[in-house]
Amino acid sequence: MSRLVVVSNRVAPIRQGKATAGGLAVGLHDALRQSGGIWFGWNGEVSKRPETACETIGNITYVTLDLSKPDYDQYYRGFSNATLWPVFHYRIDLARYCRKEYEGYRRVNAMLAEKLKPLLRPDDILWVHDYHLIPFAAACRQLGIGNRIGFFLHIPFPAPEVLTAIPPHEDLFRSFCYYDLIGFQTETDRLAFQDYISREAGGRVEADGNLSAYGQSFCAGVYPIGVMPDEIRRQAESYRGRRPIIGLTTEGRRRKTLISVDRLDYSKGLVERFQAYERFLEHFPEHRHNVEFIQIAPTSRSDVKTYQAIRKQLETVAGHVNGRLSDLDWTPLHYLNKSLDRRTLIGLFRTANVGLVTPLRDGMNLVAKEYVAAQNPADPGVLVLSRFAGAARELSAALIVNPYDCLGMAEALDRALRMPLEERKERYEDMMQALRAADLNAWRDTFLRDLRSFGRHRVVTARR
Ligand code: G6P
Repeated sequence: MSRLVVVSNRVAPIRQGKATAGGLAVGLHDALRQSGGIWFGWNGEVSKRPETACETIGNITYVTLDLSKPDYDQYYRGFSNATLWPVFHYRIDLARYCRKEYEGYRRVNAMLAEKLKPLLRPDDILWVHDYHLIPFAAACRQLGIGNRIGFFLHIPFPAPEVLTAIPPHEDLFRSFCYYDLIGFQTETDRLAFQDYISREAGGRVEADGNLSAYGQSFCAGVYPIGVMPDEIRRQAESYRGRRPIIGLTTEGRRRKTLISVDRLDYSKGLVERFQAYERFLEHFPEHRHNVEFIQIAPTSRSDVKTYQAIRKQLETVAGHVNGRLSDLDWTPLHYLNKSLDRRTLIGLFRTANVGLVTPLRDGMNLVAKEYVAAQNPADPGVLVLSRFAGAARELSAALIVNPYDCLGMAEALDRALRMPLEERKERYEDMMQALRAADLNAWRDTFLRDLRSFGRHRVVTARR
């Protein structure tokens, strides 16, 4: 079997005995372990004299490099997270564009391809991840790298009307066509991409999923990312760690709890969620004192302005909800700006009566899947899920909500907390079936199978 080379913006080596890694990192490591290979990307550091480091654990070599300050500012903080991220999440209002940053984005992609080139063998398969690396294949082709290269987009792909707000969209998507296989989370994303290719790029879309544009032929497919549901269930069953004291009254009675876990990001619908929770406590006062909401929201990209703004806004709303409704013996909302280790999270999911996952837009959202998988089959909790999360396609047995409908969300919370055991079990069984049918192994294996079976190696050289 040919070696696998994974390329992603961030690289996270997994050492033995570490139980904190997320499902996706574990899944990619399993793929690398099966065939041997390299995981290549940024180590998360910024330095004056960027260096490359190599570490081999078993048959996987981690090759990581730091970024210079201008590269970090232009490639990561600038074009990736201040232009692409908001536009791909339908927030043109929050996006800004700077030509210099786009040049930096292209420059870093070219630099990464150059650093990777001497490490490659002719039959290696490359699997590139996410929006930071859209022009990476074109940069490889320019260096004469003919290996098969696949790309997976973890975030949504927006409608062309939204996408074309990115000033250099044509240049950007011309370079995207040098991948052999492009994977999306949902059919909606794939259709939006096809729409762009046929209407904006003047390309061709064949019935079998083959595409051609800008003189390149390539494939696009849907590969919904999953979790390992039975493993999560076992972890949840065996969790013996710290029990949260949240949810307990002064007399030791257990209150019902709602849980949400998100990176602190404006795409996650946190403000709308806090407001819906407030509305729920107003409209259904019988729940006051009997329910607590735990929001875990570690801060993220805190040097990007829009993230500083959303953080302030959330502090105001959280303070308002608690200031207005708290009592001496009851705090309705626990808002934590910190990350918890994976085992504790799974333990929390297990005990929470409701999992609240209500992004305004999200590629997939693995928290929704993990919450379901962690439930006790004999007494499962209820998932309240935004229709705008990719996961809503598979988890149609959740209580599906529109995060822009404040009262609708409040009513869904009331319904979730009152739901009879039989209905909760039925919905849980349905969702577990969906999780098992498209788990993390299936995601990885079908993508790699399709990539390995894609045509010939390329001989073309990309032009800019
Ligand atoms: C999202 C993106 C990932 C990214 C992660 C963390 O899930 O799809 O590509 O790694 O956020 O973001 P950060 O900017 O901290 O790497």
